[in-house]
Amino acid sequence: MSTISNELQSTITKLSTKGKGILAADESTPTVTKRFQAVNVESTDDTRRAYREMLMSTPGFNQSIAGVILYEETLNQKNSQGVPFPEMLMKMGVLPGIKVDKGLVHLANTVDENITQGLDGLPERLDDYKKKGACFAKWRAVYTIGAHTPSDLAIETNAEVLARYAAICQEKGIVPIVEPEVLIDGDHTIERCEAVTEPVLHAVFNALYRHKVKLEYIVLKPSMVISGKACPQKASVAQVAEATVRVLRRTVPAAVPTINFLSGGQTSEQATAHLNAMNQLGHLPWNLSFSYARALQDHSMKTWQGQAKNVPAAQKAFSKRAMLNSLAAMGKYSEAMEKEEISLAS
Ligand code: 13P
Repeated sequence: MSTISNELQSTITKLSTKGKGILAADESTPTVTKRFQAVNVESTDDTRRAYREMLMSTPGFNQSIAGVILYEETLNQKNSQGVPFPEMLMKMGVLPGIKVDKGLVHLANTVDENITQGLDGLPERLDDYKKKGACFAKWRAVYTIGAHTPSDLAIETNAEVLARYAAICQEKGIVPIVEPEVLIDGDHTIERCEAVTEPVLHAVFNALYRHKVKLEYIVLKPSMVISGKACPQKASVAQVAEATVRVLRRTVPAAVPTINFLSGGQTSEQATAHLNAMNQLGHLPWNLSFSYARALQDHSMKTWQGQAKNVPAAQKAFSKRAMLNSLAAMGKYSEAMEKEEISLAS
């Protein structure tokens, strides 16, 4: 095996460990600022550093988290002991990753649809991120469900760009997280979400094949098949689990080692219950786990409120969500656990 293949294999083996997931802590500065505003915390370099240090120094979090996706700012920051964050994670046996896309821009000749940018200069940026310790990367494509969207043009173009990104990452020995997110926004039914998600994933895997991406060394990070936020008929946990697994079985080859969902605006409890129900279906060809941002962080951020004195309680809240999702990734969660005192350190 070449050095590159060895690196990719070592990273993907750790990321697909049964019962472990990924913490997405890679919110861009405008996004984390919006989240901080909701809990009345000012967003500065230092508050963002302190918040992320609080998460990543949670006792025992390496029992349920295999990797953390960082934003470039955090990759370059040090913790309060002067240790760079990637080094701090490595010491705990947690892999550092990096968000490498540069966000969304309008896709010309569509009505309000987007394409993700950031391919120019990506190889050079990856060299730099790798030197700083990043082992894996993330790129997010976004699809909106509307009367006429997503268009074929948006589906094809986003697939092409995701595949180009994934191919570049693998050439550099970096495992790509391929994230096609069908947004939960809107009043669409779960059936409509299913009808959209299937061709989206099909196009992504077609493009990955054309670009010779080695499926053995990717993480797929999809949205779940779910009713829109404003849909009057909410699909049940069982319906979400069945529809999501049905679409994944039809579109995702068994060579993909692990699928780590985004939470996409579900409540923390819903995201855990859905993941658990999918794992309880059994006979799945891939590991099914999580790569949540909001569903892991919401309770913790609300508890923290930017105050050092709240750090232990905020870590406890994060620890509980990490543990419950770890159980859900093995199909061993139950709703009754929400009421129990659960913490990773115990
Ligand atoms: P959410 O889990 O909050 O959807 O975030 C996941 C993510 O990384 C979005 O790119």
